[in-house]
Amino acid sequence: MNVDLAGLRLANPTMLASGVLGYTAETLENIAENGAGAVVTKSVGLKPRDGYANPTVVQASCGLINAMGLPNSGIDEFAKEIRSAKKVLQVPLIVSVYGFAEEEYATVARKAVEAGADAVELNVSCPHVKETGSEIGQNPEILAKVVMKVKTAVAKPVFVKLSPNVTDIVYIAEAAVKAGADGLTAINTVRAMAIDTETTMPILSNKRGGLSGPAVKPVAIRCVYDIYERVKVPIIGCGGITDWRDAVEFFLAGASAIQIGTAIALKRCNVFKTVARGIEPYLKKKGFESVNEIVGLSHRS
Ligand code: FUM
Repeated sequence: MNVDLAGLRLANPTMLASGVLGYTAETLENIAENGAGAVVTKSVGLKPRDGYANPTVVQASCGLINAMGLPNSGIDEFAKEIRSAKKVLQVPLIVSVYGFAEEEYATVARKAVEAGADAVELNVSCPHVKETGSEIGQNPEILAKVVMKVKTAVAKPVFVKLSPNVTDIVYIAEAAVKAGADGLTAINTVRAMAIDTETTMPILSNKRGGLSGPAVKPVAIRCVYDIYERVKVPIIGCGGITDWRDAVEFFLAGASAIQIGTAIALKRCNVFKTVARGIEPYLKKKGFESVNEIVGLSHRS
């Protein structure tokens, strides 16, 4: 069940996705105790941000739509949580980073690594906060500048979390890899909204948000499959994974590891254990000795 992600050793290929329960050392430790092979924090920026007013989350028929607005305490305060988490965590800690300019991404990433982060994941895909997130990740030139700047600022693996809200995700993935990304996370949420038939108004205070959960899994599988055909760095699959079969589908498409987020809200924290426990017997039954042997297997002719 071991996987190697650009030098990061994971005892199993399940990871906590950014954005869910990743605010404090205690919750990160809780997720690791529940079987995650690595944890990713909620995105952190240079300065504290309140995020949007409630409602920030709405349940859709097959997932969740959220627009939190990147609430966070800012990297200087959050560095304390990173240091505390590093004292107790037995699994790699990846800090999700956003910024409003390439220098900001680099500064936040550097401070996160100085505090103990084992890797950073660049949020260039939040679909609704202006001048950051997908406004950066939808433009290959700006994205490349951000990745290059972060790569010169830190000596740890740099993962780039991609947006599905683009015409050609492979083009963006290639730009990130060419700029030095050590791995790619695919995908962040799909732009979405919900309208209340009683009030006749959009439900989220930000009106537009991002859809996650089972509804987006086929989109994410297609993105991983397409990216795998064209890039060589490890891909971390993310989007709608709730059981071991979903995880296996991502490996077969080309993911080396998978992230779980919405299933924690819809199911339980122990989803990491149940997913990992389901993968092992599948591998045995099919005659494989490791997860690595099935990565990209659906691409053979
Ligand atoms: O609203 C949020 O904080 C979401 C961030 C994201 O989707 O990356």
